[in-house]
Amino acid sequence: MVYFPHKNVLATKQFSREDLETVFATAKEMETILSGEKPWDLLRGKIMAAMFYEPSTRTRLSFESAMRRLWWKVITVSDASTCSLAKWETIEDNAKMVSIYCDIIVMRHPENNSVEKSAAVIDTPVINAGDGSNEHPTQAFLDIYTILKERGTIDNLKIALVGDLRYGRTAHSLVFFAGLFKNVEFTFISCDSLKMPEKVISFLKEKNIKYKETSSYKEGIVWADVLYVTRIQKERFPSETEYERVKNDFILTKEMLLATNPNITILHPLPRVNEISNDVDELPNAAFFRQAQNGVPIRMALLYLLLKK
Ligand code: CP
Repeated sequence: MVYFPHKNVLATKQFSREDLETVFATAKEMETILSGEKPWDLLRGKIMAAMFYEPSTRTRLSFESAMRRLWWKVITVSDASTCSLAKWETIEDNAKMVSIYCDIIVMRHPENNSVEKSAAVIDTPVINAGDGSNEHPTQAFLDIYTILKERGTIDNLKIALVGDLRYGRTAHSLVFFAGLFKNVEFTFISCDSLKMPEKVISFLKEKNIKYKETSSYKEGIVWADVLYVTRIQKERFPSETEYERVKNDFILTKEMLLATNPNITILHPLPRVNEISNDVDELPNAAFFRQAQNGVPIRMALLYLLLKK
């Protein structure tokens, strides 16, 4: 029997390295279901409510795809204006209502810690699909899974993260997970106004994990094994002018990569705007579309592990 002692998936900090190994082993099994090698007929009829109060393509659709691959069912809110939050219902009341209609809730919301608030008032399991600029833990599961598949290990890797490290919730969650492995080092490449927040820096200091910060793209990637590129999160900026000022600061091109670090593994949680030029896609080490594909077995694994109880 697989041991997974969690009711919810709310934040990366609730998980140990052993939990990650359980999720990855289960995701490998899910890949055999996806390839048709193994049939699936457990827990038929479970219902997931996908409550997305912010736009999403990958997270919502990969969760829905994961449910359907497992022969489970989905009910969805994909536009906040069509549900009763638009009539000023509180997040807590909304969660209580939705929990009556389903077996598990997957929720994305623009406010930090809003998913945790919902989970606190209901017994139904809740998965955080991104809360404001705080965390995106299921993305971090699939990011680490992708690095393991692409590089064979996380231990001893040098990971560079670039772009909007202030508002980029996937970057925060990735650092918290990668920090569970041995001798991982980080470089954070950003402009001054988009530096990694204090909560991540204090985690690294507390765990004695090496990191450096730079505004030089080349200096940041020349030594790294993995480059994690992030979009500048326009929707979280206080003003359009501020966004316009920084939006073109860090653009990755094929020419620059070949001249500095041609073998670096390139990840991006997507969607991208202009931060990776299209000619990078043709490089064998551009892993971002494979990364998005890994979202399905990882989310199948998480849904199964939470619902099998
Ligand atoms: N990576 C990610 O969260 O993508 P979506 O916003 O499309 O879900």
